[in-house]
Amino acid sequence: MNVRMKTFPLLKPALLSVSAGLAFAVLLGATSEAFAQTTAEQTAAQRAAYQPVFRLDGGNMTYAFGVNERGELQQIYWGGKLGAGDAIPTPKAAMELASFDNSYNNTPQEYAGWGQGLYMEPALKVTFADGNRDLVLHYVSSNKPDENSLNIVLKDISRAITVTLHYTMDPDSGILARAATIENAEPKAVVVEQAAAAAYSLPPAHYTLNYLSGRWAGEWTLNRETIKQGQRVLESRRGSTGHQNNPWFAIGKGDAGEENGEVWYGALAWSGSWRITVEQDALDKVRVTGGFNPFDFGYTLKPGERLETPIFYSGYTHHGYGGASRSLHRFIRGHVLPQAPNPKTRPVIYNSWEATEMNVTEPGQEALAEKAAALGIDRFIMDDGWFGQRKTDHAGLGDWYVNKEKFPNGLKPLIDKVKSLGMDFGLWVEPEMVNPDSDLYRKHPDWVLNFPGRPRTEQRTQLVLNLARPDVRAYVFGFLDKLLSENQISFLKWDYNRNWSEPGWDQLPGDQQKRVYVEFTRNLYSILAELRAKHPGVEIESCSGGGGRVDLGILRYTDEVWPSDNTDPLDRLTQQDGFSRAYPVQVMMAWVTDSPHWLNNRATSVTYRMLVSMQGSLGIGANLNNWNAEEMATAKRLIAAYHKVQKTVQQGDLYRLISPTDGSEFSATESVSADKSQAAFFAFVHSTQEGRSFPRLQLMGLDPAATYALTSIEGKAAPDTPAEATGAWWMNHGIDLMLRGDFQGAAFSLDKK
Ligand code: DGJ
Repeated sequence: MNVRMKTFPLLKPALLSVSAGLAFAVLLGATSEAFAQTTAEQTAAQRAAYQPVFRLDGGNMTYAFGVNERGELQQIYWGGKLGAGDAIPTPKAAMELASFDNSYNNTPQEYAGWGQGLYMEPALKVTFADGNRDLVLHYVSSNKPDENSLNIVLKDISRAITVTLHYTMDPDSGILARAATIENAEPKAVVVEQAAAAAYSLPPAHYTLNYLSGRWAGEWTLNRETIKQGQRVLESRRGSTGHQNNPWFAIGKGDAGEENGEVWYGALAWSGSWRITVEQDALDKVRVTGGFNPFDFGYTLKPGERLETPIFYSGYTHHGYGGASRSLHRFIRGHVLPQAPNPKTRPVIYNSWEATEMNVTEPGQEALAEKAAALGIDRFIMDDGWFGQRKTDHAGLGDWYVNKEKFPNGLKPLIDKVKSLGMDFGLWVEPEMVNPDSDLYRKHPDWVLNFPGRPRTEQRTQLVLNLARPDVRAYVFGFLDKLLSENQISFLKWDYNRNWSEPGWDQLPGDQQKRVYVEFTRNLYSILAELRAKHPGVEIESCSGGGGRVDLGILRYTDEVWPSDNTDPLDRLTQQDGFSRAYPVQVMMAWVTDSPHWLNNRATSVTYRMLVSMQGSLGIGANLNNWNAEEMATAKRLIAAYHKVQKTVQQGDLYRLISPTDGSEFSATESVSADKSQAAFFAFVHSTQEGRSFPRLQLMGLDPAATYALTSIEGKAAPDTPAEATGAWWMNHGIDLMLRGDFQGAAFSLDKK
């Protein structure tokens, strides 16, 4: 396999050149020559004589760290941009406050080894072959691989373990990408038991932690809690990202709100088991450490081997939670997505899952395709059920040949039909899974994650293929490559419908088997990279029973994600709000499905459902055979209207004008195009009570001097609303909407004259 995965540099090389002329990575007092190797024998005087300080500037952020008098790398500052000429002080290790509050524990190290009396979360913990587990990392050298990047080499005070810390600053957004490479130059193997990508520190203050939690069909719940002493652990032990926690955080200071106040935020780019700890120490300092989940971790590094951690991105804003998410959205669109920096807008799609489930047939899908095309849909996607002996979820996974009973002439007739209707064709796959009732499992029962002689726990009657194995990787790449080579497929919906159990890899010696936690995910990424390279026209969605695999790792290889199997529009309003804290609407697929909804048995109008989904990347997932002429006409009209604001919604700046998470019966979002020439806004009421009016909406992000014309996509503004007015009017005076009833929505666009 000669496909290079995206590792370092941490931004795409093409973008690094954009930074010319920006005040980036001013290395104060540092040179790129190697600092004399730090050893136990080195005197304090020698160390004090060479204490470099490093400063990274980007967007509105400055990040600074340096070497303290002991030789440790210590964070100095993370916050709003400092003056270009401001002197950054050389860091001093914290004082020992008491024997129980020692200096090593209190010093905000950039990347602390577990040793010396560290009780905070270590960034790195190892066991050497002789049983020594003390690791004390001191500064060795720095180098600057390019204008926006900086590498810092640390080494243990006596053992040949080195850590290279990688820093890449995005000059526009100020989003910092950090990762670490751990290398064993000892004569014997070393077991890495814990490896973070980075640790970030904040000084004592009153902070509020924001994080996302959930479950299947209930992803994207925004939680807000005061940070108190002790640890809040956000994690997945499941082998993949998980529905339960998402690897994102935002920390607001004091009374930071949606559009004001200081917010520090971050996201981990890893789709395997992960952990972020947010910890306030006994002296009230806060440390955020993120990387591989140390639970059951044990990566044996043979002499000369390295382990690269995922990237842990971070950013800062003084524009509140809204400012934080807008910045992250822009960064993801511009630097993370496979089509960055100019990802195509997501087409309006039709997906067959809720209409037919696994009962897919050639005539059935063709009938749906005709209806979808009549609505103005761009892409038709056939979901689960087309392959092997797949009739229910009890069989077929692993056997990726077309089911001849359902498609006697293969996929070609359906694909031809879809294309003749003016749409492109997408297909569902679940490549990492196998049903015990499949030809693949009967032939290769050893290919699944398992511990020999132990039960194999099934979930949805399926087992997880051990993608870390080279033969399994070859099989998975092989069948996908064949499928894409033999059929005109423009899109894959890549599903993943269970978490791990019995994560054994018995082909390896016992001390190597835990590598599965790293190699599985790396092979997933490399398959995606290789498929994209070989089939550049194909787009891919990451799905995991809804939103179980959404993170900045998978988003380097996939164009969009399926946020939740819950498509109830009322639930979607809060889910979309939570999702948008971390991820851009560009990647958030939002289907309109049938009513009453299968999950909550709630009935809503097609208009309401359409408007909710039009805040994201719109799709239809309903059984169109059951829609009447009026519903079809409404959907067609709103799809046409969506096309006019599609780029603004998907790629504009998002303002959460009224968040449904505030317990309000009202909610509203607004998107403004990058050039401020267009805005689209959506407003919803759950249930009007006592005749209350919808709150006046003061729009945001417009050009105050420009004149914008108001167009209704759906719903009415108050009769005295001007047909056109300046951005200043729409932002300061605002707009009153005539919006009352149960589950009602309205949408408008503002177009610059
Ligand atoms: C879970 C996905 O989230 C659904 O959209 C659908 O594709 C099913 N899997 C198919 O089994």
